[in-house]
Amino acid sequence: MKTVFRQDILDGKVAFITGGGSGICRGIAHAMMAHGARVAIVGRKEDRLRTAAQELTEATGRACLPCVADVRQPDQVEAAIDRTIAEFGALDIVVNGAAGNFLAPAAQLSYNAFKTVLEIDTIGTYNVTRAAFDRALRDRGGHVINISATLHYAATPMQVHASAAKAGIDAITRTLAVEWGPLGIQVNGIAPGPIDGTEGMSRLAPGEFRDRYLASIPLRRFGTVEDIAQCALWLVSGAASYVHGETVVVDGGAWLPGYGALLGG
Ligand code: NAP
Ligand code: COA
Repeated sequence: MKTVFRQDILDGKVAFITGGGSGICRGIAHAMMAHGARVAIVGRKEDRLRTAAQELTEATGRACLPCVADVRQPDQVEAAIDRTIAEFGALDIVVNGAAGNFLAPAAQLSYNAFKTVLEIDTIGTYNVTRAAFDRALRDRGGHVINISATLHYAATPMQVHASAAKAGIDAITRTLAVEWGPLGIQVNGIAPGPIDGTEGMSRLAPGEFRDRYLASIPLRRFGTVEDIAQCALWLVSGAASYVHGETVVVDGGAWLPGYGALLGG
């Protein structure tokens, strides 16, 4: 993979990446492995995790452990973290990427639909981070990266569930940065913009919407999985060692235009 980082910056490190079987977080797993880390990838679908783990190991020569767990279930999360530590002997980096989303106006969203997205995104992020803290981070320090979004910076129709969920995640990022910074745990987030070729993009920016969306992005391109992976690498590389409690927006300026999008600016 193309990179500006030395290939050994994560030698000896172990990462636990939820959502690592697909899309953006698979890209983060790839990048971390290509720079020396051993990685556990976590999701609900065993087949996809196994295939991804095999492909990532073939591509990088590093070990990848597929771990089946639903982030909503603390016992499953704890078992997956225990397995990772048993397999690799450590846990240094947690990436919370597991999420669920779909377009739905609030008036058509069931109580359970709203709750489900909050449970996967926000409570899932807390469950994983807390279990990793108890088992490894508290004693050894490390990094947490929470994958957020920019939906809630202004207001995004048909996204009340995900906006609330990601706002909660940003609150977790800032609060844990304050509580856990003194223990040597660096806590940050990444807010991706529209990332081409991902499940999120196909669900949230369906075909007919693409051209208009593209024209509103200041950098005039959709993002790539590698754009997000490079940011994640930067956050754990040592180059970002004083960045803390921050959610880094990686979106080509996509959320900025506001009325400019309507005015053609
Ligand atoms: P994706 O490929 O669908 O990734 C979501 C992952 O989460 C899947 O691997 C899924 O695996 C896992 N997951 C879902 N529910 C889970 C659960 N209950 N327990 C454990 N794992 C679960 O989507 P993506 O587009 O790459 O999105 C990745 C992250 O980036 C998400 O946090 C998303 O909100 C954020 N994001 C994406 C975009 C974008 O343009 N794509 C923009 C802004 C933010 P299983 O199905 O196997 O469980
Ligand atoms: N619009 C409105 N409501 C929806 C919906 C949609 N497109 N998809 C699901 N729901 C509702 C369901 O009807 C259900 O509510 P109900 O019990 O009142 O009928 C509720 O959401 C939970 O759905 P269910 O399918 O039981 O949940 P799940 O835990 O199996 O799956 C989802 C979670 C719904 C988020 C599923 O889309 C998923 O697994 N997504 C992961 C991948 C993803 O979203 N990637 C993009 C990340 S940005």
